[in-house]
Amino acid sequence: MQSFLAIGSLLATAVFTHAAPSSLFPRAILKPTEDPFYQPPTDLGSLQPGEIIRSRTTPGPIGAAQQYTSINIQTSYQLLYRTTDALGNASAAAVTIIIPHNPSYDKVLAYQTAYDSSDPNCSPSYTLQQKSNETTYDPLFMAAALEKGWIVSTSDYEGLEAQYVAGLVAGYATLDSVRATLASGSVTGVSSNATYALWGYSGGALASEWALELQPSYAPELKFAGAALGGLTPNVTTVLQHVNKSIFAYQAFAGINGIAKAYPNVSDYVAQTLIPEKAAEYHAINFQCTNDTNAQNRLDFQDISTYFKGGFAALNDPIPQSVITYGASMGFRATPQAPLYVYKAIGDEISPVADTDALVSKYCAAGATIQYARNAVGEHVAEAILGSGGAFGFLMDRFEGKAVTPGCVTENVAVSSLDVSSFEGFGTELLAVLAVLLLQPLGPRSLQGI
Ligand SMILES: *[C@@H]1O[C@H](CO)[C@@H](O)[C@H](O)[C@H]1NC(C)=O
Ligand SMILES: *[C@@H]1O[C@H](CO)[C@@H](O)[C@H](O)[C@H]1NC(C)=O
Ligand SMILES: *[C@@H]1O[C@H](CO)[C@@H](O)[C@H](O)[C@H]1NC(C)=O
Ligand SMILES: *[C@@H]1O[C@H](CO)[C@@H](O)[C@H](O)[C@H]1NC(C)=O
Ligand SMILES: *[C@@H]1O[C@H](CO)[C@@H](O)[C@H](O)[C@H]1NC(C)=O
Ligand SMILES: *[C@@H]1O[C@H](CO)[C@@H](O)[C@H](O)[C@H]1NC(C)=O
Ligand SMILES: *[C@@H]1O[C@H](CO)[C@@H](O)[C@H](O)[C@H]1NC(C)=O
Repeated sequence: MQSFLAIGSLLATAVFTHAAPSSLFPRAILKPTEDPFYQPPTDLGSLQPGEIIRSRTTPGPIGAAQQYTSINIQTSYQLLYRTTDALGNASAAAVTIIIPHNPSYDKVLAYQTAYDSSDPNCSPSYTLQQKSNETTYDPLFMAAALEKGWIVSTSDYEGLEAQYVAGLVAGYATLDSVRATLASGSVTGVSSNATYALWGYSGGALASEWALELQPSYAPELKFAGAALGGLTPNVTTVLQHVNKSIFAYQAFAGINGIAKAYPNVSDYVAQTLIPEKAAEYHAINFQCTNDTNAQNRLDFQDISTYFKGGFAALNDPIPQSVITYGASMGFRATPQAPLYVYKAIGDEISPVADTDALVSKYCAAGATIQYARNAVGEHVAEAILGSGGAFGFLMDRFEGKAVTPGCVTENVAVSSLDVSSFEGFGTELLAVLAVLLLQPLGPRSLQGI
């Protein structure tokens, strides 16, 4: 990913630093914790899951990458909607709905970003806006979908409190964001009977996967045309072990914080076991984004076990165990109904491929339809790019209504570069990223000038 991002940044810096596309949006934007739009109403419990509470156009334009430019789209909206929290209580979340030029209002891609933070002010409804100044690469992936004319809806699936890694929260909020998007026609133009699919990588795959597991019980009326899940993290215990002391150690701190916010018994447990001298440093993670380059305290390379009395053994205590099993492990609820494209680097250093192999096998044995691409090249971050061409090609087929052969196929692939010939999806992606960087309108027929 780094080389891809570097190219994008270089291009953007070299050519477009002087573009000022945000003049249409002169107002400052407010952080979610300060913005009344995000305040849930007092009668939240009387609303149905997915019911729209309020809507608006986004206060500022949608940016991309390091926010040098905004993407050229028709418009974008935000909805606040009712969803459900980890304890089953009514809660609220926001979703951003992006409308390209020449939109197909009957095609909705629910794209979950990998925002991976326990800070509500890192929610995508805010960070996707150029004026947030936050680094966000997800619009470069969304660009291909927008180029196809699909509506992109992307939710703050961690809820208003940023309950990162809380699977139930992410799943419910994703499902309800789709309900809200489909019900938003009078505001957004989206067709209530649109075809819809899910896409997510890493943290975004966590939300999408939980949505699929919970869908049969929580949102039985929904029928996803397909879902592309990359860089899955089925077992949080192994993730914790793998990120410990690594460049990704931040994720572990944010994850523990996110779970603690979702579960009062975990929050109490953390308060009791956190080593007092380390508490301030630990809690600072609640105030920074994954890609916050200004953060002074990223906690990268830290040994997580040194923050808690008892070290890693504490994870085996009844409270953490109960919540890890019940609320953070994939594969213990329903088998996904939609056809899936699962992509994963064999060398993934955050979540070992064996955990995803096991999840795929379990679902396949239960009758799921899965195309599973195991990539021999790259690791977790590279696979977000390398696997995305196959994922996008799969999604194009689903939106075009192509038939899927039921059952499972595992392919060991070796995708090492942006090889346009190997996956149809890459071609669209590359052109769309170029369109973003060249400030071209995103939507069908918009590439004629390139
Ligand atoms: C949330 O749910 C729990 C468990 O059912 C219940 O004890 C609690 O009172 C609820 N809280 C709110 C604010 O409704
Ligand atoms: C983003 O950066 C601009 C230019 O430095 C600054 O004026 C603005 O206040 C920043 N916005 C936020 C939300 O930090
Ligand atoms: C979707 O709804 C529109 C308008 O109600 C209708 O014209 C169209 O036939 C519907 N499409 C499908 C696939 O049901
Ligand atoms: C997750 O991994 C840990 C060790 O890495 C293992 O002990 C545990 O059984 C696994 N959990 C599940 C649900 O497979
Ligand atoms: C975390 O890293 C430390 C230092 O390398 C090591 O002692 C500890 O065993 C690691 N914990 C796990 C669960 O891997
Ligand atoms: C963004 O976050 C990811 C995951 O933590 C990290 O690998 C990447 O280097 C970060 N990028 C920047 C520009 O900080
Ligand atoms: C912690 O709270 C969750 C949610 O209410 C519950 O499912 C779990 O059983 C609790 N753990 C223990 C050990 O009581």
